[in-house]
Amino acid sequence: MTTTPAANKRYRKEEKHAFKDCVKQVAILLFLALRIVIDWFIDFVFGFFYKNDDTKKLPGVKENFLLKSASSLAQLIREKQISSEKVVVAYIERIKEVNPSLNAVVDDRYDEAIKEAKDVDKFLAETDLTTEEIKKTKPFLGVPFTSKESTSAKGLAFTFGLVSRKSYIASADAAVVERLKDSGAILIAVTNIPELNLWCETRNNIYGQTQNPYDLTKTVGGSSGGEAAIISACGSPLGIGTDIGGSTRMPAYFCGVFGHKPTTGLITTKGLTFRKGNEGETMVSAGTITRFAEDITPFLKLLLDDNLSLPKLDQKVNLQDVKVAYCLNPQDLRVSPVSNEVIAAILKAVDHLSTISKYHVDKISLDGFRYSLSLWRHEMSKEPGNFAFDLSNQKGDISLKSELPKLIFGKCEFTIPALMRLIDLNVLPPTNKSWAEDKKKQLVQEIQELLGDNGVLLFPSCPTEAPYHYASFLRPYNFAYWAIFNVLKLPVTQVPLGLTKKGLPIGLQVVSNHYNDHLCIAIAEELQRVFGGWTPPFTD
Ligand SMILES: *[C@@H]1O[C@H](CO)[C@@H](O)[C@H](O)[C@H]1NC(C)=O
Ligand SMILES: *[C@@H]1O[C@H](CO)[C@@H](O)[C@H](O)[C@H]1NC(C)=O
Repeated sequence: MTTTPAANKRYRKEEKHAFKDCVKQVAILLFLALRIVIDWFIDFVFGFFYKNDDTKKLPGVKENFLLKSASSLAQLIREKQISSEKVVVAYIERIKEVNPSLNAVVDDRYDEAIKEAKDVDKFLAETDLTTEEIKKTKPFLGVPFTSKESTSAKGLAFTFGLVSRKSYIASADAAVVERLKDSGAILIAVTNIPELNLWCETRNNIYGQTQNPYDLTKTVGGSSGGEAAIISACGSPLGIGTDIGGSTRMPAYFCGVFGHKPTTGLITTKGLTFRKGNEGETMVSAGTITRFAEDITPFLKLLLDDNLSLPKLDQKVNLQDVKVAYCLNPQDLRVSPVSNEVIAAILKAVDHLSTISKYHVDKISLDGFRYSLSLWRHEMSKEPGNFAFDLSNQKGDISLKSELPKLIFGKCEFTIPALMRLIDLNVLPPTNKSWAEDKKKQLVQEIQELLGDNGVLLFPSCPTEAPYHYASFLRPYNFAYWAIFNVLKLPVTQVPLGLTKKGLPIGLQVVSNHYNDHLCIAIAEELQRVFGGWTPPFTD
């Protein structure tokens, strides 16, 4: 056989290319192995630090009805089998019992809430309406709920964890809070958040840090960390979350409850921190945090209000017709490798769903997922608002130059994550815009094709269980697998799937195409039915 010089050259080029590819693959593998060792070492060192710390378990609930779903409590109240007052009082007592350990609730309206509950009972005693009629107009009549401190709730603290807002009290309800109140639900308290909601732990210089109900030495995630913690601990049945980079789903995952981030753009943002609701396109969406999958749909319907008809929430889902795909390792190199326990949890769900779906369950990996963090970072640069301005309570721009010296002398009033955000915005180079837009376009196209109108994607939430407090500073990018779905504006349900060897919650994300929230929720309900859903963070 003879070869032309051109073919020879091509061959050598291909060979060189293959060699380069091989070196790259080996380098990536070495890097991942190193990551695993470093991740293990971080936990080892932090383990020493926290060893003698408080790891006591939360006490069990005194009233069994605290273990019921919000929907079933609403039904019992409507049928006058239990009074709203009894339910509200029991939840308040539960908060008082667990909050010294968790530091989740930061302001409350207990007296008003009990008065409102008495009014509900009085109304029910006198009304001629049938329970069905009440269910239609006031689906959560008499049921307590909680919300983030950073979401405006009339008469309650509204600081977002900014020291400069220390005495701020909200003068009006955010639209989402108003909608829950209109449904008959009773606001009992607001909960802790990271400063300005932008960190993967819940800690600020006004209220301090929130602890994980499964292990007080571990984080609850952020930013809806107070919500997820108090809901998991049975201090509230319904919590309004908000999510720009995983803020509803991350704490739900770390605290073992359900979190749903709906298709983006359907729920007004009026009253979420500084937002007026007229800022234009954003990745932020309010969402639901609940212990039970069956509460997601009725809760979400309230948040959607005028846009109720856009997602197909009333469409019945036949699981046989749902096409399931799964991804085990999205391979963003800035994120820790996905742990074996997380992979096993996803495979458990895959195995079960493959016995139901009439389609083959496919394992997929899309190139764009490798850039989850960069794509989110680029998308954040398009968000309305100015972080440095907001940090000053909108009085001027906070500058890194003046804050860093203050930090050294212990005079800086901001948290480290806020300063890290300033560094990211002002010092680090921006993500290449045309590259990011291209990658995003490609990913959007691929994922829409994959999901179609009847598909769901099972996706890792986080590479690990909840880390120790402060350990996230050494792994600040591990939120990227939540954040990529803010970029894509897709609906996602965070589903709990039991506990790890160390007794911490684990779970996965169920993603579907725009407006197909009902598919995510149907899968969440099925996984709850089979694998048990929320596992209480207490035993007796
Ligand atoms: C409905 O969605 C649109 C955008 O899709 C949004 O501008 C509007 O605020 C939403 N309406 C309500 C009542 O939330
Ligand atoms: C940005 O990305 C584009 C397309 O990937 C590339 O052509 C361009 O050189 C990049 N620009 C910079 C400044 O790196």
